Amino acid sequence: MPLSLRCAVFPNWGSISLTRPIATAQTSRKKLHTVDGRVQRDEQFEAVRKLLDDGFIRHAGLSNASVFEIEAARKVFPVTTVQNRYNLADRKSEDVVDYCAANGIGFIPWYPLAAGELNRQRGAVGRIATAHNATGAQVAIAWLLRRSPIMLPIPGTLRVTHLKENVAAASFSTPYQGTHAVHPVRRV
Ligand SMILES: NC(=O)c1ccc[n+]([C@@H]2O[C@H](COP(=O)([O-])OP(=O)(O)OC[C@H]3O[C@@H](n4cnc5c(N)ncnc54)[C@H](OP(=O)(O)O)[C@@H]3O)[C@@H](O)[C@H]2O)c1
Repeated sequence: MPLSLRCAVFPNWGSISLTRPIATAQTSRKKLHTVDGRVQRDEQFEAVRKLLDDGFIRHAGLSNASVFEIEAARKVFPVTTVQNRYNLADRKSEDVVDYCAANGIGFIPWYPLAAGELNRQRGAVGRIATAHNATGAQVAIAWLLRRSPIMLPIPGTLRVTHLKENVAAASFSTPYQGTHAVHPVRRV
């Protein structure tokens, strides 16, 4: 098994017994975090399959994966979720979102607020936010939630006020109108 995978699932693997499945929240779902180009792809997928078969993890997903990679992985194990960078201003994973929607796979957009940049935008996002008495962050989250029922945004925040604002966006109905005008945000 590739060392990176082993360490992710068994942080103390040198000192624990591997004969007993571990059922903790931490190990119940494992995401293969970017297919490692240094290790045979199928070897990584087989390793995940074995972790599932042995009961060390309950569900497995992929991160930063293409449709091609998801299809290859699904031949070896059931892919529960895919976590790719995706937001209103960065839609490079559009084909992955469509593929996940068509195949009942959860899609977790990381960087959903472009590190807060979408909250600061004065252009299209700002205009929609003002028109709906909302913040840019809420527009960005609401847009993701409306994009597809398989969408599970994970905005990161250290502030309770932002957390409440972000949760409230779930009941906010953002029209798509105008969102095509959102300019790409350079990654910071
Ligand atoms: N799979 C991968 O390869 C990968 C890579 C990178 C990140 N991730 C995951 O993706 C998740 C999110 O990524 P991220 O944190 O980099 O980006 P993000 O969620 O797009 O942005 C987080 C930033 O937005 C700000 N923010 C949050 N809510 C806000 C609000 N309502 N108003 C204004 N600003 C707000 C936060 O600042 P405050 O703290 O001030 O609220 C923080 O600086 C994390 O859980 C991370 O682990 C995954």
